[in-house]
Amino acid sequence: MSISIFSVEKPWLCLAPMAGLTHAALRELVASYGGCGLFFTEMLNVRAIVFQNPEKDPYLIRGENDRPLLAQLVGREPDLFARALRRLEALFDFDGYDINLGCTRGAIQRYGWGAALLKEPRLCAEIVTAVKENTTRPVSVKLRSPDHNKESLLRLVEKLMAAGISFLTLHPRSPQDGFRRPARWEEIKWLKEAFPELTVIGNGDVFSPQEAKRMLSENGCDGVMIGRAALLRPWIFRDITLYLQGETLPPAPPGLEAPERFLRLLEKFLPPELQEKRFELWLFWFLQNFPYGLHYFGRLKKQKGLAAKLALLKTLLAGEKIGPYPARPYLLR
Ligand SMILES: Cc1cc2nc3c(=O)[nH]c(=O)nc-3n(C[C@H](O)[C@H](O)[C@H](O)COP(=O)(O)O)c2cc1C
Repeated sequence: MSISIFSVEKPWLCLAPMAGLTHAALRELVASYGGCGLFFTEMLNVRAIVFQNPEKDPYLIRGENDRPLLAQLVGREPDLFARALRRLEALFDFDGYDINLGCTRGAIQRYGWGAALLKEPRLCAEIVTAVKENTTRPVSVKLRSPDHNKESLLRLVEKLMAAGISFLTLHPRSPQDGFRRPARWEEIKWLKEAFPELTVIGNGDVFSPQEAKRMLSENGCDGVMIGRAALLRPWIFRDITLYLQGETLPPAPPGLEAPERFLRLLEKFLPPELQEKRFELWLFWFLQNFPYGLHYFGRLKKQKGLAAKLALLKTLLAGEKIGPYPARPYLLR
């Protein structure tokens, strides 16, 4: 598909969907540093959208500057996707929908959702069809590599294209890889070579503007999606844009700036009962910008209340500088 689907110039720089993290406040934090090309929500359970009250769902809160925004949906039954779509279309104003074919969390896979669907290409296509029948907006999929086999990947993508996806994002790790092995970027190239007309976003292990440029040039993809590095550096999209234009990168902001901004945005966009947990979830990643970050995180977890956490952060980060790229976390959860 062409760029006209979102009027966003290519390459598309996308903030990855991340459960517990890419809520309205984090998307607004990214927006406050210049934004990105496309935002995604964290994964939204279609069952919850259908059977609970979506108007009261904190995961469906939208910011003011997080546009264009795709709602990422996770589930299994095409009928539930269709019903969820009807509710979302009636109540909200998302710019498109993305279907999760990549999550490897235990419970998600046990239900047969996320990456478990990769074994059922026909069902994946039926889900796309069910979503498309209920919206005129772009519908994409985000998938892992089924098994690093070229034929099975191309067969699956062919089916998804026939069902009418507007674009896709490939995170080229298999469900079995978890995060242990590096993403195999060459599989992104397989897709662009086989389907030059398909908009393909590459994802996985981009931790710097230099790596973003390499991902684009080596694989011929139309965009880059960034997850973990955007938790460490919510300004990475601005830096990639500057780097691609050949400009010099500005220094990283002072260590305390992003946490202070984020706290204000959490208070603005999320209900009080979620704010502290969401602050903690993000700090686990952000503090990995600093050599003793995980030690700091251990101390912060013991502080109860946002004010106490912020006071300790002020002490810990006084004089701390965020170093040059890459923004690579040294620990996963
Ligand atoms: C904490 C966390 C939560 C995630 N949640 C989701 C999710 O809800 N939906 C999804 O499709 N992928 C999810 N992912 C995968 C990311 O979107 C992305 O594919 C992965 O982190 C690889 O990109 P990166 O190397 O830039 O981090 C999650 C990843 C992390 C680290």
